Amino acid sequence: MHPSVGSQAISQTPWSPSTWRSRPIRQAPTYADQAALEAVEARLHRYPPLVFASEAERLKARLAAASRGEAFVLQGGACAESFRDFTGDVVQDTFRVLLQMSALLAFATKVPVVKIGRMAGQYAKPRSSPTEKRDGVELPCYRGDVINGYEFTAEAREPDPKRMEIGYFQAAGVLNLLRAMARGEEANLHAIHRWNVDFVERLRKIPRYRELEDQIGDSLTFMQACGVRADSAQLRETEFYTSHEALLLPYEEALTRIDSTTGEYYDHSAHFIWIGDRTRQPEGAHVEFLRGVRNPIGIKVGPTTRIDELLSLLEILNPQDEAGRITLISRMGSKKVRELLPPLLDAVHKSGRCVTWLCDPMHGNTTTASNKLKTRAFDDVFDEIIGFFEVFRKAGLPAGGIHLEMTGRDVTECTGGSQCLTDDNLPERYETFCDPRLNGEQSMEIAFKLADALIKTPLVK
Ligand code: PEP
Ligand code: CO
Repeated sequence: MHPSVGSQAISQTPWSPSTWRSRPIRQAPTYADQAALEAVEARLHRYPPLVFASEAERLKARLAAASRGEAFVLQGGACAESFRDFTGDVVQDTFRVLLQMSALLAFATKVPVVKIGRMAGQYAKPRSSPTEKRDGVELPCYRGDVINGYEFTAEAREPDPKRMEIGYFQAAGVLNLLRAMARGEEANLHAIHRWNVDFVERLRKIPRYRELEDQIGDSLTFMQACGVRADSAQLRETEFYTSHEALLLPYEEALTRIDSTTGEYYDHSAHFIWIGDRTRQPEGAHVEFLRGVRNPIGIKVGPTTRIDELLSLLEILNPQDEAGRITLISRMGSKKVRELLPPLLDAVHKSGRCVTWLCDPMHGNTTTASNKLKTRAFDDVFDEIIGFFEVFRKAGLPAGGIHLEMTGRDVTECTGGSQCLTDDNLPERYETFCDPRLNGEQSMEIAFKLADALIKTPLVK
């Protein structure tokens, strides 16, 4: 199937950071005070960029490598970052677990792991219903801290443009810490290995995890014997990138400027931004906005994605077929991935277009627990990852990596894992403002199990 003629026309229409405003838009808040909104937009527009275009370009090159099987992507973080969680500990714990996981995955895949946080800007959420009802009271839904408040009061639920400014400053604070950690002891491979050994000690039951960590320890000792010093830049430092869903377009537009080196527009709010499953209409505002910024971008691909629609999106968003520009994030659900992904993968492959495929095993596996809390079962999450890699292996194509909703904290939001969390445990530390996240231990277990599976059956290169 070919992309529609319409998509070629869209890709040739003049673009500016504000052309999205004349397109139909979904999931957008209505601000009562337009003057207040415009004042915030004008201030944001003058504030310093959060990231550099050159960093976004470097990430694009890394993602292009992943599309060829020469790198593996680990993207992870909260479903919704909250202003309440703006603390050093929350950021540090998640960063650390992502690095611990990436060491295991690099060992298993034998390629560099590209680390991208759903961090420093993941504040806006698409919702399935515009309102929420509790005890007969109906209020606008919560749309993420950058838009309105979580509290169930009419006042909190009113979209407030000042929240965009708070979001910007919080993103800057988180990013500052991430940048420091990526250059400091937190990123030292020897330290990461020691944390992993500690983790394995706590999870005594699983000898295979210890075996893997012993092998990593041996590799580090071997490198040291060969003269690679523990404090060498290669072992001590890492690259870490930020990402979020580009949902709140007034915010994204305000941070979009021409990069003085290349003369191109970049969205300077994060290195990587993606379009969600609910806002990927080819004629819609979100696609229009992302068409013109040069960042690497993601597109969520779900059970309702049609082949012709997907090919149109690739034409609109990447008419020159630039490598690393597009990452497709499959989120089918463990029961459907083996059936729904192959035709899409095949069609994209046959179109000859370059994309990087990631597996999001979270969003197709959400269920409601007996106590009405939203949850996800560890086994479903892992099964979708395995199904995803099976599909790629059968097709003889390289799979790019995984995209997780997780935290380094010891929350109780997803069931299962070696802690054997059940529905009854969920209320103990159910802290998410949106979707349930894997906790630190469950995330590490995903990494160990996946590393083990990928060592047994390596990825296609
Ligand atoms: C998300 O990643 O938090 C999300 C809302 O995903 P999706 O758009 O795939 O439903
Ligand atoms: Co989510």
